[in-house]
Amino acid sequence: MKGLIPRDFILDLLARTNILDVIGKRVKMKKKGNNYFGCCPFHDEKTASFSLSEKKQIYYCFGCGASGSVVNFLMQYERLSFPEAIEEIASMQGIRVPYTESENNQGDQAKQIESRNERRDLYSLMAKITDFYQQQLALSTSEDAHRYLEQRGLNREIINRYKIGYAPNEWRLTSQNVVKSKDELALYDRAGMLVTNDSGNQYDRFRGRIMFPIRDRQGNVIAFGGRTIINDSAKYINSPETPIFHKGFQLYGLYEAQEVNRNPDKLIVVEGYMDVVSLAQYGIDYAVAALGTSTSEEHIKLLFRATDSVIFSYDGDNAGRNAAWRALNVLLPCLIDGKEITFAFLPQDEDPDSFVRKVGKDGFEDYIKKAPNLSEFLFDELLKQVDLKTAEGRAKLSSLAIPLLEQVKAKVFRLNLLQELGRYLGLLDVSQIEKLIAANQNKGENTTIDSSPLPKMKLTTMRILIGLLLQYPNLAKMVSDINVIRQVNLAGIEIFIELLELCQQYPNITTAQLLTECINRPYYKQLNRLATWEYHYQDDEIESIFSHTLKELYDNILAQRQDELIAKERVSGLSTAEKKELATLILVLSKKD
Ligand code: UTP
Ligand code: MN
Repeated sequence: MKGLIPRDFILDLLARTNILDVIGKRVKMKKKGNNYFGCCPFHDEKTASFSLSEKKQIYYCFGCGASGSVVNFLMQYERLSFPEAIEEIASMQGIRVPYTESENNQGDQAKQIESRNERRDLYSLMAKITDFYQQQLALSTSEDAHRYLEQRGLNREIINRYKIGYAPNEWRLTSQNVVKSKDELALYDRAGMLVTNDSGNQYDRFRGRIMFPIRDRQGNVIAFGGRTIINDSAKYINSPETPIFHKGFQLYGLYEAQEVNRNPDKLIVVEGYMDVVSLAQYGIDYAVAALGTSTSEEHIKLLFRATDSVIFSYDGDNAGRNAAWRALNVLLPCLIDGKEITFAFLPQDEDPDSFVRKVGKDGFEDYIKKAPNLSEFLFDELLKQVDLKTAEGRAKLSSLAIPLLEQVKAKVFRLNLLQELGRYLGLLDVSQIEKLIAANQNKGENTTIDSSPLPKMKLTTMRILIGLLLQYPNLAKMVSDINVIRQVNLAGIEIFIELLELCQQYPNITTAQLLTECINRPYYKQLNRLATWEYHYQDDEIESIFSHTLKELYDNILAQRQDELIAKERVSGLSTAEKKELATLILVLSKKD
């Protein structure tokens, strides 16, 4: 197990790295004034609101608020852990990351370290296993598998395109063929390919199954789904969570769909592996599946990044409608204007696989064209619960709808939904409904504070100081005595002191380095926002504003001391020296304003 990465190494590494090189390779950036701008990779947009400052070495999106250092960027963009992002940056520079010996109390953190190298090893192991399963399927002796696939009607071409394979029903056949050393066995286990029973015996997880490799966006096989062909009680088994596989973050078939068409104009979300593959065979090559989990926010982000039109397909029964309703609730807060969303409910007892085989490509596409869109589905469901003919029914509709609609941040979507609600309620004016929403919001204050992307932040003395220091770390040299500041009793003071100490210890530290240093702190999010806060001060005003604000802080210390002395005077009286001090304080502080 590896230990921790030393702070000095991280700071030094960041000092040598230019965020523009890293982001510029992944996002098209154009220089505008002092900064660079491009289309934000973290939300869908057509105008460039993603900005990057070479001087501060940070990025900031005016649209969605995404921000941070090059480390945050890689973590978010490449889905890396902190140490992985550091490994990535180091490898770009051709530097090896030194790890310190892990100490006991750091064990937990060390456990989380998944090195870049291990990921690479896991990818190549999974590729080997995929090959092995494909070879097994190609053997003429694998008659059971051939018979099964034939019965399911899958053809060669689709089997190859999806790299479908076969795990014969043997306890250790796959491991014995793929694993060549003890280290590799440990890796095979880390890849989720082994099961260890109570007596400590290990055997292959997938046996007697048709194997569906799950590929990530780069095409690496990161997990498998296996369909039993021997009537095992578990019809499907999926790989467990591993360092390279996080279920809620993957869509089966997305890689294959994008291989056919980099920018598909629509994607259909289905339930099963077989559905994806079967639809593809019938020419509907834009189906993806959520791997037996319910639709997650991450799934939706993936979908919106890949296409403008998403069809969610469900069984026509109650279970299907319930699943669709759950998906709708996940969707509302992540809606983006310009996206089209529909909910297709298949006829009774059909799934996409069986249905497309019955009606063919055209029949299937005609059917899903008639599917209700998000707003229609939402109101269909709500209207089932109310009687619009009565005043109570209309009141109930608004009380059911408003908590849903107010989650929608996308302006056009929101307006359309409000107008729709207005039509049902007999209100013609949207502003009347906006008023309803405002009334509703006042009821539950505090609940929405963190959810809105960029709520206004009040500029307090402490925030100005912390924000300015983060953005202009050089200002630290204006603070001659940190010890004086330690006496202040203000929220955030310990953060300010910590930053000051860092700045004084590392004289050329940058904003990005400071942020990275605090990445695991509970207050990191606030720091990140302050680091990108637009003060609208001129560059040449910064120093005087900082010193002015600092003086307010000192005055605050003096005022606190004054209060303290006054209180003491009342309780136990003051010494001569204290009396003198109080008199001076009163004089100094009264001169202010
Ligand atoms: P279904 O039971 O609807 O299967 O599960 P299916 O896709 O129609 O499969 P076939 O046609 O009988 O082969 C849908 C999805 O739910 C997950 C799988 O991802 C499957 O594709 N599932 C289902 C499991 O993970 N485990 C199971 O035991 C069953
Ligand atoms: Mn099926």
